[in-house]
This record gives sequence, C-alpha cells and structure tokens, in this order.
Amino acid sequence: MTSITEPVAIPVITVDGPGGVGKGTVARWISKRLMFNRLDSGALYRLAAIAALDRGIGPDAADRIAALCHGLSINFGEDADGHERITLDSIDVTQRLRLEATGEVASHLSVWPAVRNALLQRQRNFRQRPGLVADGRDMGTVVFTDARLKLFLDADVRARALRRQRQLSESGIAARIDDLCVQIAARDARDRNRIVAPLRAANDAITIDTSNLSVAEVEERVETLLAVHGFT
Ligand code: DC
Repeated sequence: MTSITEPVAIPVITVDGPGGVGKGTVARWISKRLMFNRLDSGALYRLAAIAALDRGIGPDAADRIAALCHGLSINFGEDADGHERITLDSIDVTQRLRLEATGEVASHLSVWPAVRNALLQRQRNFRQRPGLVADGRDMGTVVFTDARLKLFLDADVRARALRRQRQLSESGIAARIDDLCVQIAARDARDRNRIVAPLRAANDAITIDTSNLSVAEVEERVETLLAVHGFT
C-alpha cells in the first residue's frame, strides 16, 4: 500500500481587527513568544500610501497605485535597540509610516481591488518557516484562510480613542477625545463597509474584546489559546 504524504503547511496565526485595538502589540508578542515571522499588513498599505503621495498620485488612481505596489522595494528591520525600522526604496520611512495622515491615505487606497490584488502575493510570501503571525483587516478572511488560529480583536471606539490619546501625549501631542472618536469611527466605517475584503471576523475566528482588558490580560488569554491550538 502506498501512502501519500501531504506537505505540512507552514503554520499561520492571524490577528485581525479595527485600528487602534492593539493588534500590533499582540502580534509582536506572539511572534516573540513562538519565534515566528511577522507580517504587519497595514504597513504595506501605508507604504503604498507613502509611495503614491511622493509621486503625486491620488488615492483613487487604483491602477497606477497597483502598478507602483508591484515595484516597491521594502525592507522590514530593527535597529540595535530592537525598534522597528522600515525602509522604502532604501529610505527610512518608519516615522512617516505611523502618521495619522498616512493611515488615512492607506485606508482610502485600500478600497480598490487592483491595489489589494497587487499586495496579495507579497503578503503570502511572508509565510516562511517556522511560522507566521499576520495582523491586519483581512488576514483570516482572505489572505491566510487556512490559518491554524484566527484571532479577531475588538474594542469600543472610546477605549481605542483613549489609548490613542495616551500614545499621542507620550509624543507630546495633545488631542481631544471627541475628535479622536470621530476620526476612529470614520476610519472604521470605511474599513468595514468597503466592497472587497471588508473588516470582519472570519467565521472560524475567536473574538477578544479588549475594551476593558490590560495588555497583560490579553496576552494571558492568547497564551491559553496558543496552548489549546498546540502551538506551545
Ligand atoms: O492597521 P493600519 O492602521 O496600519 O492600517 C492602515 C489602513 O490600511 C487601514 O485603515 C486599512 C488598510 N488595511 C487593509 O485594508 N487591509 C489590511 N490587511 C491592513 C490594512
């Protein structure tokens, strides 16, 4: 009798959710915990936004942005202190990448199917041994539908606005909570209501509401899920 052995798929954990919910913190923690590679897919959309802005291309020029995406030379690295360093065509864009204005443009251009398709294979290329943790909006629903563990983080708008206010004040920037709530709600609406790959939990995702949880409490829950799913 012959036995056919299937190649063992490289394991993927997806972490989806709206902006400001703490996906990056959780994904970074999992990737350190399991020594997995990490894909910050939002950063790819933000890099596309920077590339388009620098060339004077508006966020509605879907085909031109898609063409740009195919040619982007991107590097995700860390400096000596372990802080992320992201370069676009060899230029350090780490700080620009995190600006609210960059996120806004990224959210606009990400509604176009041509742009999403242009970034699809690039995202899948991050699936390398020993495993991958990928965070974004559609990691579990589109990009890695066969992920072994899918998490969906959620939190109410006010909780996310408070976190954002704290982050901004650490950088010396004052912001009003009501203004932040309006901004966050507008971005949510765009990400959730677009036709292609809208933000939503995959049917097989486990949702964690982080509104009233500390980072340590979220990590504790994820630790349990990692064990249940055979990662530890
Ligand atoms: O997570 P972030 O704030 O870095 O993402 C910026 C924008 O990019 C977000 O508003 C929508 C888009 N995005 C997306 O459409 N799909 C993803 N997987 C990740 C981000």
